[in-house]
Amino acid sequence: MTTQEYEKNIKRVIITEEEIAAAIKEAGKKIDAMYDGHPILLVSVLKGAFVFMADICRAVTVPCEIGFMCAKSYYNGTESAGVVKITMDLDRDNKDYHVIIVEDIVDTGRTLNDLCRMLCARNPRSLRVITLLDKPSRRIVDFKPDLSLFTIPDYFVIGYGLDCAEYYRNLPYIAEYNECKDCDKK
Ligand code: PRP
Repeated sequence: MTTQEYEKNIKRVIITEEEIAAAIKEAGKKIDAMYDGHPILLVSVLKGAFVFMADICRAVTVPCEIGFMCAKSYYNGTESAGVVKITMDLDRDNKDYHVIIVEDIVDTGRTLNDLCRMLCARNPRSLRVITLLDKPSRRIVDFKPDLSLFTIPDYFVIGYGLDCAEYYRNLPYIAEYNECKDCDKK
């Protein structure tokens, strides 16, 4: 793909760098207030959440540990019950931690639903989910994040960690992807 083609696929910016930064600052304050000085464990779900994680962990002032997981969900057709396969697990036990899962987007809700069930079974002190983006219109399982920074319509979005065929994760903003016949949809 040429640079020209690469850029042509960025249809329009829908959330600017400044809007993201402001929302994260507010979210950091909310987390500080919720945990009131108690230590937390932020768990980022790779790859998409890596940029959000880097920013949200610097927006909180409560004592904070960070951890990373890689999860993939497998389903048959429209079946809502499935399994989440952990391709990389946390490097510590989350038992007795105040855990916050940090996600880039909740779409069908399957990944988070499964991940929450799995981490809950490990007996954390508490478990919450924060997501940068929420697409409630796409929900297949009943899942509601505790904190959502932006609710968006069903656009195919890229940037700030989100990809199309692994490209565009490094864009500093959220953009709508310009789908064309030559491009693979995720
Ligand atoms: C994205 C995103 C969430 C998941 C949400 O991950 O990071 O983990 O999809 O979708 P769901 O609500 O329909 O389960 P993706 O599988 O694209 O992998 P990536 O994070 O490596 O880009």
